[in-house]
Order: sequence, then C-alpha cells, then structure tokens
Amino acid sequence: MTALQALRKYHGSLAGKTVFVPAGLSGTGLFACQLAKNVFHAGKVITTVSTAKIPKLKELLGENTVDQIIDYTKSEPRDVIEYGSVDFLFDTVGLAMQYLCLMRPGSSRIISVATLPSGNQLQDSSLMDLPHRPAIPIPFRLGLNMLDQVRKLRARRYGVEYSYMFLASTGKDLDELRRYVEEGRLRTVVGTVVEFRDIESVRNACDVVYSGKGGLGKLVIRVDKSENLS
Ligand SMILES: NC(=O)c1ccc[n+]([C@@H]2O[C@H](COP(=O)([O-])OP(=O)(O)OC[C@H]3O[C@@H](n4cnc5c(N)ncnc54)[C@H](OP(=O)(O)O)[C@@H]3O)[C@@H](O)[C@H]2O)c1
Repeated sequence: MTALQALRKYHGSLAGKTVFVPAGLSGTGLFACQLAKNVFHAGKVITTVSTAKIPKLKELLGENTVDQIIDYTKSEPRDVIEYGSVDFLFDTVGLAMQYLCLMRPGSSRIISVATLPSGNQLQDSSLMDLPHRPAIPIPFRLGLNMLDQVRKLRARRYGVEYSYMFLASTGKDLDELRRYVEEGRLRTVVGTVVEFRDIESVRNACDVVYSGKGGLGKLVIRVDKSENLS
C-alpha cells in the first residue's frame, strides 16, 4: 500500500517513464517494482540489490518486471544510471538527496519513505494517533520542519519535487491491491516465516529488519490460534 500510494504521487502518467526503486527485494521495493511495471506501465524500472539477490530478482518478481538491476555493493548507482534520466524515484533507503543528479529536471518527482518526515507530518501521522494525543516538542518539530525544507530546496535546485510520505492505510487501497494479486499483476515475497512461540527466532528475524540489511521481502510472524497471548 505504501508503494501504491507513493507511485500515485507522480504528476501525470508514468506510462513509458523511467522509475528507480532502490532495494527491489525489500518489503516496499518489491511491490513498487511490480506496480510500476504492471499497473502504472512504466517503460523502464531500475533497481538495486546486493550480490546474492541478483539471481532472485527475476525469479521472484517476474522476468519482465525490472529492466536494469544494479549490484549496489559493487557499483555506485550514480556511475551506472544516466544523469537526468529518472522520472520517478521511490526512495526506500534514505538516499534521495544522493540521487538528485539522476532525476529528470523540470518534471521528476521523489517520494521517500526512508528519510525523515517534517515535524508537521510526524505530528499528523498515525504514529501519533494515540489515546493520550502526544505532542512533539516544539523545538524538535521545528527542527524536523527545517530539515524537510532543506531537502525540498536542494531538490528544487535540480528541478525535482521531493516529499516524504507516510502510509495512510485504507481498505479501498487494500481491495485494489487484492485485485492486482488476483489478476496476476502483483505477487508477494515472503523471505522468512517464524512462529510467534519461538521467541528467539522472532527476535533474530526482527533484528534483521531493524538492521536494514540482509532481509528478503516480507517477514511473517505466525500466531497459532490456540496460543494464549494474554
Ligand atoms: N513512511 C512510511 O509510511 C513507511 C512505510 C513502510 C516502510 N517505511 C520505511 O521504509 C524503509 C524501507 O522499508 P522496507 O520494508 O522496504 O525495508 P526492508 O524490507 O527492511 O528492506 C531493507 C532492504 O534494503 C536493502 N538496502 C539497504 N541499503 C541499501 C542500499 N544502499 N541500496 C539498495 N538496497 C539497500 C537491504 O538489502 P540487502 O540485503 O540487499 O543489502 C535490505 O534488505 C524503512 O526505513 C521503513 O521504516 C516507511
């Protein structure tokens, strides 16, 4: 749903355009690559993964989903992707500012889910939607707003529109995604399944997610119906 909502933010049609999704086998990246090609009809989808994942990409996402695969542990994407050629960047790794030179001046857009939100976005996000209505301390909020403005201004200098985005969960989008799955346009990748009762495995699997390295697709924690969670 995060990937779907991000791709929708491109102004106009992505048909035939070039979309760059770093980490194409990450939890969000794997959907972004497929949605970009199979739903938004992007002309070229570029992604980056580490060496061991290169052979898995086509096998897991389909033969024609990704057009250019870069091993980011061996090549710097800025040395491989043509400058000014990317129309849309879905930033899953927090490197939006490093990739500005790759963006097409004047019309391109970056949506990041991995840099930092503005203070206002964070305050309004579902993360803060708690019964005690927490408020972000003003200096922290202003600091985040300022950093966000700096990123926007840096992007504007390249003729690029940059924004951070929070997922806004909706049943309608979930239904749309279900339809894409049923039509064979979208598949998931589950890299790890652990049993909830095996707490050591749950901890190890969560450590991989938190480290931001080595994970493959989604992690599933299976909770047995008969388990007493109280
Ligand atoms: N704002 C929101 O609403 C929202 C929603 C969902 C997720 N997020 C955030 O978005 C980020 C991505 O989430 P995710 O679930 O897609 O991540 P994930 O499944 O945990 O995957 C992260 C993957 O990124 C790869 N990676 C790390 N550094 C990289 C680099 N420099 N270039 C290319 N690949 C790199 C790693 O693969 P290798 O093993 O190949 O190194 C790792 O497996 C996280 O920071 C998450 O918190 C935000």
